[in-house]
Amino acid sequence: MCGIIGYIGEKKAVNILMTGLKMMEYRGYDSSGISVLEDDKIVIKKKKGKISELEHEIAGTDFLSNIGIAHTRWATHGEPSDENAHPHFDNSGKISIVHNGIIENYQTLKTTLEKEGYKISTPTDTEVLAVLIGAKYDIVKNLDHAVRLALSEVEGTFGLLAMCSEEPDKFVAARRGSPLVLGIGDDEYIVASDNAAIIQATKRVIYLRDNEMVVVDKDGFITKTITNESTKIKVEEIEYNESEIQKGGYDYFMLKEIHEQPETVRNACRGRLMSNDGNIKLGGLHSVEDKLRKAKRIIITACGTSWHAALVGEYLIESMAKIPVEVEYASEFRYRDAIIEKDDIVFVISQSGETADTLAAAKEAKQKGALVLGIVNAVGSTIARETEAGIYIHAGPEIGVASTKAFTSQLTVLTQLAIYLGRMRGMNQLDGKKLATAIEQLPDQIQQILEREEDIKKIADSMKGVKNCLYLGRGYNYPVALEGALKLKEISYIHAEGYPAAEMKHGPIALIDEDMPVVFIATHDEIYDKVISNIEEVKARNGKVIAIASEGDEQIKNIVDKVIYIPETVPCLTPILAVIPLQLLSYYAALNLGLDVDKPRNLAKSVTVE
Ligand code: AGP
Repeated sequence: MCGIIGYIGEKKAVNILMTGLKMMEYRGYDSSGISVLEDDKIVIKKKKGKISELEHEIAGTDFLSNIGIAHTRWATHGEPSDENAHPHFDNSGKISIVHNGIIENYQTLKTTLEKEGYKISTPTDTEVLAVLIGAKYDIVKNLDHAVRLALSEVEGTFGLLAMCSEEPDKFVAARRGSPLVLGIGDDEYIVASDNAAIIQATKRVIYLRDNEMVVVDKDGFITKTITNESTKIKVEEIEYNESEIQKGGYDYFMLKEIHEQPETVRNACRGRLMSNDGNIKLGGLHSVEDKLRKAKRIIITACGTSWHAALVGEYLIESMAKIPVEVEYASEFRYRDAIIEKDDIVFVISQSGETADTLAAAKEAKQKGALVLGIVNAVGSTIARETEAGIYIHAGPEIGVASTKAFTSQLTVLTQLAIYLGRMRGMNQLDGKKLATAIEQLPDQIQQILEREEDIKKIADSMKGVKNCLYLGRGYNYPVALEGALKLKEISYIHAEGYPAAEMKHGPIALIDEDMPVVFIATHDEIYDKVISNIEEVKARNGKVIAIASEGDEQIKNIVDKVIYIPETVPCLTPILAVIPLQLLSYYAALNLGLDVDKPRNLAKSVTVE
């Protein structure tokens, strides 16, 4: 869940490393550090806090080194502090490493090393790995070999970079479970956790696979396995531009990404909507079309916001394609020995394509014989490469930790998938056409909602001082209630819960009083009247109600305290529109509390550890 980067080339490494760290800060931001080679010695600078703290620390020092490694941290072992920050030295001070992942057997390794007289001064698993590599280096006097020997004793996950003062013209990188990408520039090379840190120098990349390593020096690189077998390489191209990972004049990436949704929803439809014949074209699933036609059950598994999208997917696919769907938390699915039947198809949904639990769930399902397909944003990510086939959502890079545009693009793609499967199973052309046409109207409808940003901000202002909040919805809008609550929780730290509206009567209604706003998604559909009754029940207990309602609904404004109108659309597409005001509500609630909206405390953008 950290971000790591290594550089070798003609330029001053420190500038490339710091730019790369800033582009990866969303991966973890509780401490950071760099190590470079100055006068044949490794120099390490590291600091607790945001990368700006490290910038202060190194300001005024002119590091000339053309080689270096760096790290931005999301702590797993040992609290955020200057000492626990990476890089870590081995005992000789000749080797420094940065690491993203968890060394699960670090306690055992530590005990062995201490018995051999080595010293370990921090509670981190990574320092143990550094000392272990140093111990191997003492024997073999070769960094590449020492790293392989050390990794052969390691259990757990790693994205690792190591450098050695006795081999000043190279660094070594290796991965298992955590992402690593090699960027090939002109006479320079960058290895990093993701493309965002590499695009500053090049778009030509190689995605390292599990148990692969690369030895990089000024003149080139050698890829191999960590057991020293040769490997094939495939050079690919980063599909987005550097400008797409800039704020583009917005205060925060989250607000920029909220405003990108008309375009990103359009991108999720490009070349897929066949509105003339009511069909959907999903080229990424062509190779498995026959298996999809025979599918007896679909399991969708994911984490966080992607899991909320999966819940909407369940409603969509069951109603349009009449295939039973089960939605699973990936972290539970991977350990509960789930029953996988013949003709079962498992979809894994992930924005980053690197979430450890979702990746493990995909591997578990594959191992049990299921056809595993991906719905992913990050092109070339591990989950995209691990799955048999899939659908890219084309939302572009999402930097804000709170997922926004990826969610609406996931829902857009899931709707297309449901129509695609439905048309295979008797959904008629007219229904297909109606839905395709309704999808085409979404970008303009989202734009209309974004133009009501000021009204939504005012409602967020009226929530100042709120400590708790309840989100309620029915049917397709129940997962939207969950998503609205998650957005508020993760960026404003206000406690919030999402519930199916009717479920409120079975407990949460006890929480209702004038101090707790209740956000209802109450758009026009066949259960609208039921939602209105639920609103009445809250009002009867002095609850304050904010409603997301369909344009033209004059009745509701007489019942609720605040109403945000969204354009009318078909019920199954409402989640894509109804979530936009909830994204903005949480954004302004967090802003009102003076919080860093893009980098909320304790979180990180892609969760690459268990
Ligand atoms: C959502 O705002 C959070 N960042 C988090 O819940 C996220 O959705 C979850 O970690 C899954 O990430 P993924 O889609 O990249 O797999």
